[in-house]
Amino acid sequence: MDKLLKRSCYCGEVREDLIGKEITVNGWVAKKRNLGSLIFADIRDRKGIVQVVFGDGTPADVLEKANSLRSEYTVGVKGVVRERESKNADLETGAVEILANELSIYAEAETPPIYIKDDDNVSGDLRLKYRYLDLRKPLMQKTLAFRSKMYNVIRNFYYENGFIEVETPVLAKPTPEGARDYLVPSRVNPGRFYALPQSPQQFKQLLMVGGTDRYVQIAKCYRDEDLRADRQPEFTQIDLEMSFVDQEDILEVQERFLKRLFKEMLNVDIQLPLPRMTWDEAMNRYGSDKPDLRIGFELHDLADMVKDCNFSVFTDALKDGGRVMGIDMNGCSPKFSRKDIDKMTESVKTFGAKGLVWIRKEEGEIKSSVGKFFSQEELEKICAEFNAEVGDLILICSGKKEVVWASLGFLRRDLAGKLGMLDPKDYKLLWVVDFPMFEWSDEENRYMAMHHPFTSPKKEDIHYLESGELDKIYADAYDIVINGYEAGGGSIRIHDSKLQKKIFEVLQLTEEDIRIKFGFFIDAFKYGAPPHGGLAFGLDRLCMLLLGTDDIRQVIAFPKNQNAQCVMSEAPTIVTEQQLEELSIAVRLPEGK
Ligand code: AMO
Repeated sequence: MDKLLKRSCYCGEVREDLIGKEITVNGWVAKKRNLGSLIFADIRDRKGIVQVVFGDGTPADVLEKANSLRSEYTVGVKGVVRERESKNADLETGAVEILANELSIYAEAETPPIYIKDDDNVSGDLRLKYRYLDLRKPLMQKTLAFRSKMYNVIRNFYYENGFIEVETPVLAKPTPEGARDYLVPSRVNPGRFYALPQSPQQFKQLLMVGGTDRYVQIAKCYRDEDLRADRQPEFTQIDLEMSFVDQEDILEVQERFLKRLFKEMLNVDIQLPLPRMTWDEAMNRYGSDKPDLRIGFELHDLADMVKDCNFSVFTDALKDGGRVMGIDMNGCSPKFSRKDIDKMTESVKTFGAKGLVWIRKEEGEIKSSVGKFFSQEELEKICAEFNAEVGDLILICSGKKEVVWASLGFLRRDLAGKLGMLDPKDYKLLWVVDFPMFEWSDEENRYMAMHHPFTSPKKEDIHYLESGELDKIYADAYDIVINGYEAGGGSIRIHDSKLQKKIFEVLQLTEEDIRIKFGFFIDAFKYGAPPHGGLAFGLDRLCMLLLGTDDIRQVIAFPKNQNAQCVMSEAPTIVTEQQLEELSIAVRLPEGK
């Protein structure tokens, strides 16, 4: 290897103040142009790119070596900074260049399988397969540095506010609620398994029982669930818990944290206190528990207007206790064709909707997909409910309220996105509070905890546990929502073991279930637990939102693909017979696999 030329400056940091000075940079060849007596090479490092010139007095042996440079060779260059004749305004270093007098080639490189340019269009899996090359892109390096600064802001804020950082185990006990666990077999305890934590929930509560009072951890969490653009099987939480506090205390600290985070990371001022909305209001107005407040298009209940109409789909839905609701996409009628609406109809069907009704308010006439069931007068009434104007497109959905909410909630945001109305740098934060304690699961045929079973029901609703009116019980649970994403969530916990037992009962866990699954946890609460509560932010999601991307993989160095695989290392892989034997495990694949 050529001799190491020790760096005096990052490529991306060469500026006019260095003109006339001799500097040394290290990096990769991003581009080379050979003009005969002059060779130009762009050298890239994690801070950016600088132009190097060989010629104009460069020693002959160095010029010859420069001639052999190819893309992605790893090099060191020593030379003198000078002003560039033709400046490049697109490059931060574009006003200067380095006139080389020494060159070391540390490593040659084969032609890379992906372009190392921020704006390439290479498919996600190929980028992930060669992630180490993808990471050379200036944007990826900026992202990693941004995320690293976030850790710093997080740790400073919570340390200054009296929180203690504690690491909780990664080899933990399987948790029965929520997503599926990743299991880890134990060699020394044949037939037994650890689970990777879905979150440090139980440990952080036990830290409160243990007197830690204020806990924080940047915690890795693992969930074997279906992946989406904002979900990864392993992700990071900023996990918090506080003792001797109520909901107000918790929200107050977290709001101050968010204000500090936005200020230090983006120089954006967030106004406190943050707005709050109950879960009921969020669902009824926006059809979502994570409403995107950058846009309007609120849901309207049309029951009064359609209860006596001739369209049996609507009247039947109301008779069955369902809803008929709509949104008005103001001024959007000309922007969406019949074909577009067909596509919308297909997408709401994935939420269980049977169809989508449209009304277009046009000059002198109101058109509708169900025009033959409605008089112009009836349609006029619906339009009036929305204060609709000419050019508006009203979309209506009917059926079970969950289906109607999900369909319209999806449409308002999806269509706004397609119309380019969602500015990622326009930050709308809010708390969604007062979540229902339970939700019915058709799959399990029983009520499940909406947040988790350690969440405290609202004091005034506890009596409904006795009467079994579980639908009426709301919880001291809250989510922080940013631009339509759930950026974090938490709750006040139950610290009374009798109430905890009661909750487990209504979740239909038997004494034995409770003993096996939560025995240690319940026991701890017998010995004096403080009133406590907390929250966890999704760190990856916060990072994603701050950077204005909607792909969580952009902010994780080595993410998994949609099939939860690491395409680079090919994890998960099969293992040897010997490894399985040591773990007392036999693999039984489903037929055909
Ligand atoms: P919850 O399950 O709501 O709460 O998770 C907290 C936050 O973590 C983020 N998040 C995810 N991010 C990326 N990929 C995933 N698969 C994923 N799942 C969740 C979200 C979410 O808001 N123990 C409780 C918190 C508490 O009660 O204190 C918990 O884990 O941003």
